[in-house]
Amino acid sequence: MRRPELVLVLIGYGHVGRRVVTLLDQVADRLDFTYRIGGIATRHHGSALAPGGVDAARATALVGEGLSLDRLETAPRERDGAALIRQALETFAPEAADGRLVIVETTLLDVIAGEPATTHVRLALEGRAHVVTANKGPVAFAHHALERLAESVDRVFLFEGAVMDGIPLFNLVRETMPAVRVESFRGVVNTTCNYVIGAMEAGGERAEAVAEMQARGIAEADPALDLDGWDAAAKAAALANVLLDGRLTPRQVERQGITALTGREVREHLQQGRRVKLVAGGARDPRGGARAWVRVEALPAGDPLAGLQGVENAIYLTTDLLGEVGIVQRTGTLTQTAYAIVGDLARISQRLREL
Ligand SMILES: NC(=O)c1ccc[n+]([C@@H]2O[C@H](COP(=O)([O-])OP(=O)(O)OC[C@H]3O[C@@H](n4cnc5c(N)ncnc54)[C@H](OP(=O)(O)O)[C@@H]3O)[C@@H](O)[C@H]2O)c1
Repeated sequence: MRRPELVLVLIGYGHVGRRVVTLLDQVADRLDFTYRIGGIATRHHGSALAPGGVDAARATALVGEGLSLDRLETAPRERDGAALIRQALETFAPEAADGRLVIVETTLLDVIAGEPATTHVRLALEGRAHVVTANKGPVAFAHHALERLAESVDRVFLFEGAVMDGIPLFNLVRETMPAVRVESFRGVVNTTCNYVIGAMEAGGERAEAVAEMQARGIAEADPALDLDGWDAAAKAAALANVLLDGRLTPRQVERQGITALTGREVREHLQQGRRVKLVAGGARDPRGGARAWVRVEALPAGDPLAGLQGVENAIYLTTDLLGEVGIVQRTGTLTQTAYAIVGDLARISQRLREL
């Protein structure tokens, strides 16, 4: 069967967006689709739009050097992410009509309103493009509305990279657990916090560990989002909305961060056989909907979350038919996040091939 060609318009071209492009190139011969990068939008590094395809290698080099994509001399293009989406929907109208246009949203997480990412997703779906994102904002703020919109236009809204990078958590439940009801979840979902707490256990400095996570492109652009528990709260809201049919935003998640935690406290717990973790949890509310929380907990050694080291994450789901199901992520790098997007693109391709 012929491989469908997807046209990708990348809204955001930072750590994740650029790694998606290099990963696609790296695994091109293993994919059941081909692709063309139709456009790229950034906030401070210009934008590009080319019906025949943007030179992604040059785009990566330019942004990597802090230069503007405007140097690519592509078609006249809009500067703002939302405006570029509108323009791409016109430029690639035939591809949108036959389900081959995908907006890949990787702008910054905004935990106050989930914007502009939620608007980007909505505009794209309204124009009948599929959407793939690693941004937690849209699913944490507007999951049900966006799912309904996607269904109404026969397109998909996929967000596997929003939680636990490339580990197929949402897809696992959606694709392989028919009729199973998830009752609650509990996990360690913020890599930066887990790494920082581990470094403090070993006598290291919080600031140094944060700087290391920033250098590896793992911490949020504003690391306070990690340390204050906002990133974990956004993930808890996303998990509650998708798995527990919740209607939460990150602000409705009971939230604690690790900013007040001291190295001494962490090491005292360790000496007494406990490990401190930032734990995100959620449960169905008997009155309907769901509630979620992010708490600093000192876990006994026997707790499955207590053994997590460094950049490891894990989520345990309590289900009615399968009991407890645990998923552990041992490696958490940009490659895993980029893989989540590549995996979601493969699902869109699969859908096209089944038509
Ligand atoms: N890094 C990770 O390990 C990881 C893991 C899972 C999920 N995520 C999520 O993935 C997303 C991207 O993360 P990242 O590490 O790639 O962030 P990043 O390096 O800061 O890149 C963000 C990109 O978005 C662009 N941008 C911001 N606002 C925009 C707008 N209104 N219109 C168009 N472009 C806009 C930025 O442009 P300028 O650079 O020009 O400002 C930049 O290209 C975030 O939502 C993050 O939470 C990241």
